Amino acid sequence: MAISQTPKARWTPASWRRLPAKHIPDDYPNPQALLDVEHNLKSLPPLVYPGEAIRLKEKLGRVARGEAFLLQGGDCAESFKEFHPDNIQDTFRVMMQMAVVLTYGAGQPVVKVGRIAGQFGKPRSSPVEEKNGITLPSYRGDNINGMDFTEESRIPDPQRLLKAYGQSAATLNLVRAFSNGGLADLRNIHNWTLGFVGGSETSKRYQELCDKITDAMEFMQACGVNAHNTPQMASTEFYTSHEGLLLGYEEAMTRMDHVSGKWFSTSGHMLWIGNRTRQLDHAHVEYFRGIQNPIAMKIGEGLSPDELLRLIDVLNPHNEAGRLTLIARYGHDKVVSGLPQLARAVKREGSHVVWSCDPMHGNTHKTDSGFKTRPFDRILKEVKGFMQVLHSEGCWPGGVHFEMTGQNVTECIGGTARAVREADLSSRYHTHCDPRLNADQALELAFLVAEELKAYRKNEGFRQAIA
Ligand code: PEP
Ligand code: CO
Repeated sequence: MAISQTPKARWTPASWRRLPAKHIPDDYPNPQALLDVEHNLKSLPPLVYPGEAIRLKEKLGRVARGEAFLLQGGDCAESFKEFHPDNIQDTFRVMMQMAVVLTYGAGQPVVKVGRIAGQFGKPRSSPVEEKNGITLPSYRGDNINGMDFTEESRIPDPQRLLKAYGQSAATLNLVRAFSNGGLADLRNIHNWTLGFVGGSETSKRYQELCDKITDAMEFMQACGVNAHNTPQMASTEFYTSHEGLLLGYEEAMTRMDHVSGKWFSTSGHMLWIGNRTRQLDHAHVEYFRGIQNPIAMKIGEGLSPDELLRLIDVLNPHNEAGRLTLIARYGHDKVVSGLPQLARAVKREGSHVVWSCDPMHGNTHKTDSGFKTRPFDRILKEVKGFMQVLHSEGCWPGGVHFEMTGQNVTECIGGTARAVREADLSSRYHTHCDPRLNADQALELAFLVAEELKAYRKNEGFRQAIA
């Protein structure tokens, strides 16, 4: 790469501690208790295995080359309260439905990555929250403090890290069981629709698609292609991801792979750096540069092409396709003006990255009644804007990143099938942090994204430009 870097000091899982860090709590009442918990975590089993992370990196390499599409989605913040097998199953089923719709529409494999099994800690825009004249520290995610608006609940408690580890392990165990134990069998696609969605326009459309796929599978079976000789028909690969925010926890879960002698995060397959913690000379970038997992970075307003190229140099020095995903989160009204310079610079440098679109975090606003929400039409507009920009720059719009749930919540307004109105928000507003798409909205969005992708796939000139 053209940009020279001053040589970095030696990396270790703890080298981030030398540098300033944002959004990591430093107000644990008993810092020694935190160190004890981190020490304890170091001896607990890894949640994922390096070979799995390497496999995901290979798959993302295909996305970077324009041969596959990335679907990343799940909760804004997992919580202890909403931890229930039904919730995990519902999210898994909606992700599978969306993947089927996208695979069919884009005619390409879809790489499925959940914001799940570790997505707890949250960077907050304000360190304090005010209600009825009382000011308390903000809620920072269930692995740090509690959501209840009391002084006691908002005190950081290191035991929460162990609870979050345990919940992540149990969640991942179930996700693995769903992936290989029959739920993900393509012969079951009709049954992935969740009860409360049945009968909606989107669900009818989905059932029609399932009929076509089932016909095609019967034809393939008659030709000798079946679940025995083609296991992809009966199982899936579903990966986990979360924001690598709490570096003390991440350090404890960083383990050496004895096959390659390299360091891997074992807290999830893929970790990302948030938009607020991607400073070049700070702790998060330092930690991320040393792990060999596929990683992602949120990018948005204010990031210059020059700074992005420097970050890419540090985070992906060997220009490995699949190592780095850039998740653009500009907002529906800013993506078309903000993203082209970055896409152009990355293309000019010849950097191999996955371009993904988070149309959630730049489109949040508070209603008069005090609910944080995101309008469905703005979410869609940002995805379309993102795709147009990358299309005109000759780059593959490789993925989407959604905050969504399989539950029948009313957190984002809009959607055509069963529109959520502003007045509905209070009826089922359950999120612990940001508003999520419900199952119906998520599936509708998958259909709309698939239509866009199909148009690009059929455009021969475009295919040559990204080749
Ligand atoms: C998030 O993904 O929940 C988040 C906080 O996003 P961002 O870093 O893009 O603000
Ligand atoms: Co969020």
